[in-house]
Amino acid sequence: MNLKHNINLTKQIMKTPYIKIKRFQQVYSFSNENLVSALQNFNVRDQECLCVQASSDQVLDLYALGAKSIDTFDINPLTEPYFYLKKAAFCAGFNQNDFLYFFSCHNFCSSALNLNMFHFLRRYLEGDMLRYWDFVFTNYSPKELKHHLFSFEQIHPYVLKQTLNYLDDEKFRWLQKNIAKLSVQFHYSDFLSLFKLLNRKYDFMYFSNIIQYIENMFPTNYNLTTLSDEIRKLNCFKSVIEEYLPFLNDAGIIMAGYLYFLQGNVLQEPIFRENLRNQVFGDHYEYISFRSIYDIQHNFQVPHQDDTCMILKKDSLSSQK
Ligand SMILES: C[S@@+](CC[C@H](N)C(=O)[O-])C[C@H]1O[C@@H](n2cnc3c(N)ncnc32)[C@H](O)[C@@H]1O
Repeated sequence: MNLKHNINLTKQIMKTPYIKIKRFQQVYSFSNENLVSALQNFNVRDQECLCVQASSDQVLDLYALGAKSIDTFDINPLTEPYFYLKKAAFCAGFNQNDFLYFFSCHNFCSSALNLNMFHFLRRYLEGDMLRYWDFVFTNYSPKELKHHLFSFEQIHPYVLKQTLNYLDDEKFRWLQKNIAKLSVQFHYSDFLSLFKLLNRKYDFMYFSNIIQYIENMFPTNYNLTTLSDEIRKLNCFKSVIEEYLPFLNDAGIIMAGYLYFLQGNVLQEPIFRENLRNQVFGDHYEYISFRSIYDIQHNFQVPHQDDTCMILKKDSLSSQK
């Protein structure tokens, strides 16, 4: 970690008016994906994995499900020290409730980033990670941190208990005992160029919902977005995914995109438009749907919206050659 860079970035975010902070400058406290349902479609036991760092929940879930190794990436460098803060909470013996109420910045949780709890867990931080979090907690109040450093997208702890594998009693206890052994290699990198930094192969890659931001990744110089331009953007993203294939073992799988309410999504992003998606991604991709996290959040008794994982299996490509 580049301590100086992360401290300067933090100072900058903390003095920026809330509404002017850009989307991915903030850290997600917890994942807003239904990882319990999504990950049960993959066998990650003993697998070598690559995933987005984000809130670190994908990392913790993969590890709790038996992954052998986990490398990560993110365009937000502050996600790296956040991982060590969560790791320290396990080492300090926080139970699920302590953990949820310390890390959750949901309005419901008044004890978020509580200073006494930080003093307790800081004993399990070392080196630059300790220096970074000491700087943060010394200079800013929990309230300021909650409103600047962390994303406004907050999931209620009641929902998180249903959507995160590692919050299960047994898995949580297992993590408390085994997290010290988990070492994660973090790449501070954009997904668009990360493949240039890779030097090993993986069995499973999990790219979260980055695909949803195609619009910002391949901007146009003019205001009017034409159909052909949307197809161009989807094709650009598809080409980037293909850059990862050489780093995937033969039976490997890429979870190329977590798509919220695929069927009923009213967002205009091209990835949600079935005809465009099929035209570009064709038959090579599989789609697995399951109960949406927002369905759980709103406590619908009858599922009415599904989230979907868009999957590319390396062996499906070779069998169709
Ligand atoms: C896609 S976001 C949204 C939250 C996500 N659904 C979850 O559950 O964590 C997750 C993370 O992706 C990172 N991210 C977004 N676009 C990226 C890109 N082009 N390359 C690398 N990381 C990216 C953000 O900084 C953020 O930490």
